[in-house]
Amino acid sequence: MGHYFTNDNNLKEQIKKIEVKVNETIFSIYTDNGVFNKKGLDYGTRVLLENINLENKRTFLDVGCGCGPIGIYIAKQSSNNKVDMIDINVNAVKLTNMGIRENKLNNATAFVSDIYDKINKKYDIIITNPPIHAGKKVVYNIIRDAKNYLNDNGELWIVIRKDQGAKSLIKDMSDIYNFNIIKRDNGFYILKTGI
Ligand SMILES: C[S@@+](CC[C@H](N)C(=O)[O-])C[C@H]1O[C@@H](n2cnc3c(N)ncnc32)[C@H](O)[C@@H]1O
Repeated sequence: MGHYFTNDNNLKEQIKKIEVKVNETIFSIYTDNGVFNKKGLDYGTRVLLENINLENKRTFLDVGCGCGPIGIYIAKQSSNNKVDMIDINVNAVKLTNMGIRENKLNNATAFVSDIYDKINKKYDIIITNPPIHAGKKVVYNIIRDAKNYLNDNGELWIVIRKDQGAKSLIKDMSDIYNFNIIKRDNGFYILKTGI
């Protein structure tokens, strides 16, 4: 049985289009076996999108995009928003690209990248619902290295559950980031950092 972050060619394809509404924005995502969010929008992702402040921000990187709900939502808010979405899972990137086309977005791109290995620019916001099941090392690399890909005054936004280590993350990264807890909701923490 593969994890949603592995590339498993033996999984039976079962692509579904799901319509999602967040705040006043309606958009479609495509889901499939073996990809996070198979059953629809994750509750934590929803809380993150309901609380993020996009004002005065123009460039965005969605790390671990899955089937793309975060980046697609942000790209839909304004055609001035430029959104890159990355995932290590090839099928997730394929589904995200289907979602980009379905929502007629020409301000968003999705590509395969192992964390930041294909990223060579800086962003106003890096946003992630990190892959807890990929292990602490991956999650910490996503968060620790984000500072290298943020513009001055850039922000890192994270959703993480309390029982998946929100508090120890804040403590372990306090030498790098000042975390603001923007929201607590059903055990999910929405964190925003300044650097
Ligand atoms: C919790 S899911 C979030 C998916 C989506 N952003 C959402 O909110 O529904 C985390 C994603 O991180 C991806 N991931 C795992 N390891 C990764 C890595 N090393 N580099 C990039 N993405 C990774 C997984 O494939 C998965 O799609």
